[in-house]
Order: sequence, then structure tokens, then C-alpha cells
Amino acid sequence: MIIRRFDPSTDAGILEFEAERTIVRIGSVTMVSLLPKQDFLRKFGTNGLHLAVKRKEVVGAILITVEQEESCPVALMYGIKVDEPWRRQGIGFRLMQQADLFTRKCGLKRMVLDTRPHSTPALSLFRKCGFATARKSPQSLRVEKMVR
Ligand SMILES: CC(C)(COP(=O)(O)OP(=O)(O)OC[C@H]1O[C@@H](n2cnc3c(N)ncnc32)[C@H](O)[C@@H]1OP(=O)(O)O)[C@@H](O)C(=O)NCCC(=O)NCCS
Repeated sequence: MIIRRFDPSTDAGILEFEAERTIVRIGSVTMVSLLPKQDFLRKFGTNGLHLAVKRKEVVGAILITVEQEESCPVALMYGIKVDEPWRRQGIGFRLMQQADLFTRKCGLKRMVLDTRPHSTPALSLFRKCGFATARKSPQSLRVEKMVR
């Protein structure tokens, strides 16, 4: 299994564009971004979409980009997903390591993520990767970590 950046020349088939959103197909599951085509490609197309690939099949993906928060740049993770048959094999963890690498390469120290507060596997993964809760509401949870 390899982790690599999205390559528009070979991976374009995993993206589906609708008027108001972009869908990333990861085997039998999808990751949905509320960005239309041009905005999605501008934000993630060259460096922000990373894939886990096994024998040419995309089995996992992570979306990450640089955002300004209170005039400070942070690495903001938009989502991570692993196709169901491939879960619990360390792929999510490897994608999170890729997010660390992205953050360091961008010269940033802080990585943040907003997620649902009830997703046990995801929260367990984030804790394992060093994230801690920054704030919590009934609908949403902000976790963050400092990357060295
Ligand atoms: C969260 C997700 C990405 C984990 O991917 P994965 O490849 O199965 O994760 P890994 O095999 O690398 O597991 C790493 C750690 O995650 C946690 N974890 C993963 N699946 C878990 C589960 N079903 N129950 C509890 N903890 C779990 C564990 O801490 C695990 O470490 P361990 O193996 O030492 O116990 C995957 O379950 C998924 O795609 N879920 C749906 C999408 C989602 O919730 N995304 C996060 C919000 S953006």
C-alpha cells in the first residue's frame, strides 16, 4: 500500500462534480466537500488530497489545506475516510502521518479538525495521533495538535 498525492492525470475518476459540491469516491464510500469543482481543485487539487492506494485501487483518502484562523495559518483537515473492507489495518493512521508531513512541509505547527462528537473510531484515531479536544458543542468537536 502506498500513500501519495492525488494525480489529476490518473485519479480524476475518483472525483465527481455537482453544482454545489464535490464527491471523492473511495471504493464503496464517499467523502463530500461542499465546494464546487473550481474551488475544490484550487484548494485541494495540487497538494491537499492524499490517497491510500493498494494495487491501483484507492482505499483511503485525506483532505487537508492551509487556512487562516485569527490571522494565523493552520493546517485544517477537512476529512479522512477509509473504505470499509480496508479498515482496522493501519491505513487511517498512515494517512494521518501524511497530514503531519503536509503540515511540516508547509512550515506550520498547528493542525486542526472539526468533526462530529460521536464518531468513536475517528476520535480514537485522532487521540492516538496526538490530538486533544479544543472545544465541543452537541453538533461539533474541534480537535487540534501541535506538530513538531
Ligand atoms: C476513522 C477511520 C478513518 C479510521 O481508519 P482505519 O484505517 O480503520 O484506522 P486504523 O486502522 O489506522 O486505526 C488507527 C486507530 O484508530 C482507532 N480506530 C480505528 N477503528 C476503530 C474502531 N472501529 N473502534 C475504535 N477505534 C478505532 C484505534 O485507535 C486505532 O488504533 P489501534 O489499531 O492501535 O487500536 C475509518 O474508521 C473511517 O473511514 N471512518 C468513517 C469516516 C470518519 O469517521 N472520518 C473521520 C471524520 S472526518
